[in-house]
Amino acid sequence: MTSEAIVTGGAGFIGANIVKALLERGFKVHVFDNLSTGNLDNLPLDKINFCNIDLKQNYKDWPTIEASCIYHLAANADVRGGINDHNIDLKENLLVTKNACDFSLKNNIKKFVFASSATVYGEPNIFPTPEECTSNQTSLYGASKMSSEAFIQAYSNYKYFQSTIFRFVSWIGYGYSHGVIYDFVKKLLNDPSKLEILGNGKQIKSYLDVRDGVKGVINISELHDQNSSVFNLGHFQTMNVRNLADIVCDEMNLNKVEYHFTGGERGWVGDSPLVHLDTQKANKYGWEPEISIEDSIRTTVRYLLSEDSKRFR
Ligand SMILES: NC(=O)c1ccc[n+]([C@@H]2O[C@H](COP(=O)([O-])OP(=O)(O)OC[C@H]3O[C@@H](n4cnc5c(N)ncnc54)[C@H](O)[C@@H]3O)[C@@H](O)[C@H]2O)c1
Repeated sequence: MTSEAIVTGGAGFIGANIVKALLERGFKVHVFDNLSTGNLDNLPLDKINFCNIDLKQNYKDWPTIEASCIYHLAANADVRGGINDHNIDLKENLLVTKNACDFSLKNNIKKFVFASSATVYGEPNIFPTPEECTSNQTSLYGASKMSSEAFIQAYSNYKYFQSTIFRFVSWIGYGYSHGVIYDFVKKLLNDPSKLEILGNGKQIKSYLDVRDGVKGVINISELHDQNSSVFNLGHFQTMNVRNLADIVCDEMNLNKVEYHFTGGERGWVGDSPLVHLDTQKANKYGWEPEISIEDSIRTTVRYLLSEDSKRFR
C-alpha cells in the first residue's frame, strides 16, 4: 500500500524540496499551501495533489486526507516580519500550527514533523548551542516557533501523534528564495559597484545546504521512535557575513565592490550576532552535513543567476 504524506507549505523553498524527496521514496504527496510566498512552478503538479488553502481557516474545513505523516512547514518564514506586524507570527505560525495539530488528530495522522528554527534560542549563552539550552528570546518569530513546539509536544504527550521537531539554521541552495544571499545578489544585480551590508558584517552564522537538510529531516524523522523529540539541524562550520559577501561577489565575478556597513552587532532588531547549533543528537542518527558552507553559497548564487530562479523573480 502506498504511504501518503501531507506537506504544508510545500510550494515554498524547503517544502518543495521535501515534496520531491518524498515522491522519490514512493509517497503519495498532498500539498497544502496558499501560495503567499510559495510558487506552483516549484512543484511537479502532475505527480502530487495540490490544495490551494489558507491554513488559518478552521481545520475542520481542510481537505480530509488519510495520511500517515504530516510535514508542517507553512509559516511566515521572515524573521523580521514581526517587527512591524506584531500579529503575523501569532496568526501564520502559532495559529496555523495549532490547526495542523487539530487536523492531524481529527484525521488520525500518527506522525507530525515540524520546521522550527534556531531562533527559538534567541541569544543563548552556550555555543555550539545544544537542544537543552535555555532560551533568551529576541524575536516574535522565535517566540512563535517556541510556542508552536510546546503545543506539538503537549499533543504528543496526550499520545495523539508522535512528533519530530527540527530547529533549522538558515537553509540555502536550489530553490532558495529569501535571506541574506538573495538580498546580496539582488542588490549587486541592481548596482555591481557597491553593497550595503546590515550590521558590522561580523555576525557569525551557520548555513545548511538544502540537500543535506532534506536528508536530515526525512531520515531522522523516519528513524526516531520517541514520543516527541527535538533535533538541531545545522552545520559544524560557521561563516561571518563579510566573508559570505566576499564569496557572493567572487561567484558573480565582481572584484571591486565597495562595502557599506549599516553598523552595530546585529543586522536588525532581533537578529542574533552568533548562530551555531550543536548537532550531536542528529549525528547519532547517522546524519551530518556533507556540503561545505562555501560550496553551498556558490551553488546558491549560481541558482539565483540561473533561468530557473528568474522564473520566480
Ligand atoms: N529557510 C530557512 O532558512 C528556515 C530556517 C528556519 C526555519 N524555517 C522554517 O521552515 C519552513 C519553510 O521555510 P521556507 O524557507 O521554505 O519558507 P517559504 O516562505 O519559502 O515557504 C513557506 C510556505 O508556506 C506557505 N504558507 C505560508 N502561510 C500559509 C498559510 N497561512 N496557509 C497556507 N500556506 C501558507 C507559503 O505560501 C510558502 O509556500 C517555515 O516554517 C520556516 O519558518 C526556515
